[in-house]
Amino acid sequence: MRILFLGDIVGAPGVDMVQKAVPALRKAEGIDCVIANAENASGGSGMTPRVYRQLRQAGVDLVTMGDHIYKKQELIKILEEDGCICKPANFPKEAPGKAVIRATLPDGTVVVVFSVLGRTFMRPVDCPFEAADRVLADLDGQARVIVVDAHAEATADKYLIGHHLKGRVTAVLGTHTHVQTADEQILEGGTAYVTDVGMTGPYDSILGRRIDRVLLTTRTFLPTPFDVAEGDPRIAGVIVECDAATGKAGAIQRVMMDEKQFTLAPSE
Ligand SMILES: [Fe+2]
Ligand SMILES: [Fe+2]
Repeated sequence: MRILFLGDIVGAPGVDMVQKAVPALRKAEGIDCVIANAENASGGSGMTPRVYRQLRQAGVDLVTMGDHIYKKQELIKILEEDGCICKPANFPKEAPGKAVIRATLPDGTVVVVFSVLGRTFMRPVDCPFEAADRVLADLDGQARVIVVDAHAEATADKYLIGHHLKGRVTAVLGTHTHVQTADEQILEGGTAYVTDVGMTGPYDSILGRRIDRVLLTTRTFLPTPFDVAEGDPRIAGVIVECDAATGKAGAIQRVMMDEKQFTLAPSE
């Protein structure tokens, strides 16, 4: 089976790309399941319920978030009640949301997703390694296809999470830094890995925000609104190929496309 995992969706340009690309890629690439990190989907920080519904309608099966998860408080009700969006598994128990989510595909295959936050240059959270171990112990071998979003700032944090989980999950895919890395690989035991899947949003930007604003504030310390940029929207992510029966990944391929590229992708 083939899983498309899209990286941090930023603002309206990112959501627009998902709406156009996901139906096209599902068909052209034979995608069975779509997972997306959407922590920046509304105004660049957090996500509103309206945008959540738009992403789901576009064909995103499961949604992960990150450090910006509660920036739009209207999302909290959805985080508590909906089974297709998760909070990081190493957040406190009291933090709203589900640590583990799953989708049952038309052929009966169950895909389990959870995320963990890194601890370097980020707000202090519980140990991501222990949190992942807890999730896997609770699953108790019930699911084969398990995809982990490693939401972290430091590359070493993500590699460590990948190596900690290799052979036990289908994929460990990095998000948060918004820059796609070229180190996709299959770790020992059939775990697909990449340090960052990249950003789905405007690339004429600083990680999705207007260049002039970020540059001015960085140089002068004067605060400016870091509005979402508009130019050069692209989708970024990976396609992971795995065996539904064993959950082992056989291949991982990077995806980075503008609208012209995915509309030209060969269709059936
Ligand atoms: Fe992000
Ligand atoms: Fe983040």
